[in-house]
Amino acid sequence: MARRLKVGVLISGRGSNLQALIDAAADPSFPAEIVLVLSNKADATGLARAEAAAAFDAAMTAALVDAGAELVCLAGFMRLLSGDFVDAWHDRLINIHPSLLPSFRGLHAHEQALAAGVRFTGCTVHFVRAEMDDGPIVVQAAVPVLQDDTAETLAARVLLAEHRCYPQAVRWIAERRVRIEGVRAIVLDAPAGEAFIVSPG
Ligand code: GAR
Repeated sequence: MARRLKVGVLISGRGSNLQALIDAAADPSFPAEIVLVLSNKADATGLARAEAAAAFDAAMTAALVDAGAELVCLAGFMRLLSGDFVDAWHDRLINIHPSLLPSFRGLHAHEQALAAGVRFTGCTVHFVRAEMDDGPIVVQAAVPVLQDDTAETLAARVLLAEHRCYPQAVRWIAERRVRIEGVRAIVLDAPAGEAFIVSPG
């Protein structure tokens, strides 16, 4: 079997995107494997102390390097990373965000989408840059916003798309099909998406 890309995953909570990556990697033909999962929300006092001491990011880099991680996936990691961490993993650090970036950065993306009255929102997998929720986009999925949606029903619909998009992005990166050109990421031999979808429609 060809060598698989070694991936570290950083989480803070529920971990459903982590599960989607685990499920994808369970197939031996998937070109990436998960070598380490780190959370900043463990109860371990030592971890809390490290976080308070701001040594947390350096400790994460050490653990990721130790595990041989070549790509780091933020999967619901709700802690701002230091500039040093982002620099250390430049072009090897990706994030999933539950909106069609650059719309609705930051917290409460679904509430923001509902408040704006948009007919579509979605999710974005992107390389991480110093600015929050910014960086070259690998893949997006558009999800219709229904007129009676609440933040919860919308989040559930978007999450289904997230679980499809994140493994897809990791696959393309592991297959060396993603090339970063300035602020854009180009996916080589990318399949064409739907011409358009309409909402309401
Ligand atoms: C996901 O919806 C992810 O897009 C979002 O947190 C959730 C984590 O769920 N991330 C952000 O909002 C980052 N700005 P999960 O723990 O079940 O994967």
